[in-house]
Amino acid sequence: MSHCARIIGTGGYMPETIRTNEEISQLVDTSDSWIVERTGIKTRRIAGPEETAASMAEIAATQAIDMAGIDANEIDLIIVATGSPDRVYPSTGCLLQKRLDIKNCVAFDVQAACSGSIFAMSIADQYIKSGAANKVLVVGSEICSRLVDWTDRSTCILFGDGAGAVLLESSGEAGILSTHIHSDASYEDMLYCPNPQVATDSKKDEQGFISMKGSEVFKVAVNTLGRIVDETLEANGLDKSRIDWLVPHQANIRIIAATAKKLKMSMDRVVLTLENQGNTSSASVLLAFNEAVRDGRIQRGQIVLLEAFGAGFTWGSALIKY
Ligand code: ACO
Repeated sequence: MSHCARIIGTGGYMPETIRTNEEISQLVDTSDSWIVERTGIKTRRIAGPEETAASMAEIAATQAIDMAGIDANEIDLIIVATGSPDRVYPSTGCLLQKRLDIKNCVAFDVQAACSGSIFAMSIADQYIKSGAANKVLVVGSEICSRLVDWTDRSTCILFGDGAGAVLLESSGEAGILSTHIHSDASYEDMLYCPNPQVATDSKKDEQGFISMKGSEVFKVAVNTLGRIVDETLEANGLDKSRIDWLVPHQANIRIIAATAKKLKMSMDRVVLTLENQGNTSSASVLLAFNEAVRDGRIQRGQIVLLEAFGAGFTWGSALIKY
């Protein structure tokens, strides 16, 4: 096997400030029991006033680089997945390149909402497989708390801030086995976040906050993630019993449980972080992956299925032999 994208480092960062369900129930008409029962979320992290997607990405990326034991200047390509970039441009990828003091590499952002890090891993995989890049840094970093309307109880209970990273290297050993990504914009208005500054006149009055038809999104997410699991297993000629770990996007415990059931996996083979992180959008899969690698649950040689679903709609999976 040549030019396989092997994971040589992982990292994760969560801001210090914890916001509990109790605190949110002081802001909107909700309760800890409603949030826990419907979502599985108890607390989430909120970035400090000086923190940004790039500053959090730097911390997660540095951990991944340290774990890999490489010099940052060996990195050929940086892909940052974010829906909450510091600036419209330069990209958060470029800002991260500067922070890491990398003199010569390619850096850009990917915008695929909560599926962003899976899309970024898919791009990284293509670059490595083709021989166009040797070491690729993939980061998902999000400040969702600044895109949330803290008076909207249907969304503000869900989201949190954080960053996750993986460092991939071209290797003869197994790594990413396959990635599968999809988009279907016919669902565009079920989950969106406006950008008022560049909106057309008819949309000028919309505020720049996340808007979601939660129960509709829920149903499509469950069906779609079921299909992507089938597609991934079929493409690899793999039986579901071969999967050691499921690392899902952390949006809702009930969506995750439905995917685990489809795989006939017990929940102790599913990496769960949402209880204390909420939905960190494009950071969530990489944060969960990092946690399970660092605490020793995910071991070298195991088969791991990463999956995500988000606005667009976008959805995708990555099957990895770690
Ligand atoms: N507290 C109390 N009651 C609430 C709250 C709240 N925070 N939010 C909604 N309700 C009420 C509703 O008003 C409704 O009341 P009604 O029956 O009187 O009309 C009732 O609770 C049920 O509302 P639903 O929206 O049907 O509740 P549901 O069980 O679907 O849970 C949730 C809502 C948690 C948002 C769920 O639908 C969900 O997780 N959806 C998917 C989210 C997701 O996966 N997003 C994709 C990724 S995000 C991204 O890409 C950026």
